[in-house]
Amino acid sequence: MPATLIDGKLLSSVLRDELRERIERVADHGYKPGLVVILVGADPASSVYVKNKIKACEDVGIYSVFEHLPATASEEELLDVIQAYNDDDSIQGILVQLPLPAHLDAHKVIEAIAAEKDVDGFHLSSVGALVTGKPLFRPCTPYGVMKMLEAHEIPLRGAHAVVVGASNIVGKPMAMLLLQAGATVTICNSKTKDLAHHTKQADILIAAVGKPNMITSSMVKPGAVVIDVGINRLPDGKLVGDVDFNSVKYVAGYLTPVPGGVGPMTITMLLTNTVEAAERACA
Ligand code: GUN
Repeated sequence: MPATLIDGKLLSSVLRDELRERIERVADHGYKPGLVVILVGADPASSVYVKNKIKACEDVGIYSVFEHLPATASEEELLDVIQAYNDDDSIQGILVQLPLPAHLDAHKVIEAIAAEKDVDGFHLSSVGALVTGKPLFRPCTPYGVMKMLEAHEIPLRGAHAVVVGASNIVGKPMAMLLLQAGATVTICNSKTKDLAHHTKQADILIAAVGKPNMITSSMVKPGAVVIDVGINRLPDGKLVGDVDFNSVKYVAGYLTPVPGGVGPMTITMLLTNTVEAAERACA
């Protein structure tokens, strides 16, 4: 029997309805959650992501500002912009779209964001809080994956979760959230020997590598929960994940599609973090 699909679009719409109610309660205190999205340069993929984030804010009633700096902007200019929003009470969330042009130091830029406005969860305070088990803000993509697992009541305690990919944005925080939920976690990276040996042991397999269709059916344990974080555009324009959907769907117990899986959840969790920041600000 083919895998049960985990529909991120549907779950997102349910979560967005809950957010609208939370936004109304914040409004009762005279506040409106506000998010600034800062884009430096005009990378085509980043421009699409940023546009979608702004559109999502409008969809639920979050005030949003799009701050677009030229690719030639200096570090000082960018840090000044961030400082202005750190001081701006109408803004509770600050997001700097990554990657940044090569002349800018992403670590320094992220550290300049006030920790209480770090809705991406990338600031060292957020990372430290996550690792020590008291998250301030959970990074949006792994947070969305956890919500998908929760919505389908996937048991995590004692389960073996294998995360393929060890990025700061997805792989590492994903592993940490799964560990805190009681899973036994293996993290694989591009140097892992005999990757299939590890992936075949996964009760929960998270693919976050950025290589089209690299997880094939022979790498998946029958009945496993397979979460595809990859969004890859093929030369013909088609969007595919890191998981070979058409073969894996006959082996996995649960599977996320691309598009319509993790992608919509990532943006919804950004909205969630922004509302959470606003709730804290008016508490
Ligand atoms: N680039 C790719 N994913 C992300 C993300 O979640 N946040 C930011 N700021 N940049 C990204």
